[in-house]
Amino acid sequence: MKFVVCENYDDMSKKGADIIADLIKKKPDAILGLATGNSPLGLYSELAAKYAAGKINFSKVQTFNLDEYYKIKQADPQSYYFFMHENFFSKVNIASKNIDIPFGDADDAVEESKRYHDKIAASKGIDIQLLGIGNNGHIGFNEPDDALSACTHNVLLTESTIEANSRYFKSADEVPKEALTMGIGEIMSARQILLLISGKSKAAVAKTLTDNFVTTQIPASFLKLHQNVTVLIDKDAASEMKIK
Ligand code: PGA
Repeated sequence: MKFVVCENYDDMSKKGADIIADLIKKKPDAILGLATGNSPLGLYSELAAKYAAGKINFSKVQTFNLDEYYKIKQADPQSYYFFMHENFFSKVNIASKNIDIPFGDADDAVEESKRYHDKIAASKGIDIQLLGIGNNGHIGFNEPDDALSACTHNVLLTESTIEANSRYFKSADEVPKEALTMGIGEIMSARQILLLISGKSKAAVAKTLTDNFVTTQIPASFLKLHQNVTVLIDKDAASEMKIK
């Protein structure tokens, strides 16, 4: 893992956007694995600004999102579909046929997981997977557990994730209890991984990434086994780590 300590959230967002923009310049039909949450928001704004300035063209880019609540309708303002359109897709020229997000309103979660897995497997492969990290070490919605799933699957959210995500809802009761998420295998199949970590609340989990072990209780620890991971981490999040 390559750690790049950034001055603050904005610096992290700019550096992340530069990495993705450089990739798209070299490979206009790049396949991006995308994430929701606070961590990538600034990066999406930076990419949208580059697009508005004519510096980047997404017309051939394809995207797969990491996860979606289950069950939720796309039109629900809390859905990740809505988040992605509001914060990114509506601001750039990615063709809608090239966008895929697990369908949170699917009747059958197992069927939908299989559809998503098969579509990723049939693609030329994700070139760069953008990730945030949960306070509990989750990536996507791969929650700490005795075992982790390799492929896209339906998951029950942990209390800590429901609590963390309740900041976007009126109350924790309104947070969906399940999600569909790419599995660890699909995440690890990406050619490159870009992990964004920001803020003091992430300092404890960030520190575990410098330990020399892998455990299903910290799903992000599996990223230590990947050959091409860049961790963009701001000073607050890096405050408990030895690297400075
Ligand atoms: P955040 O969420 O980017 O909103 O901190 C990250 C996550 O829970 O994976």
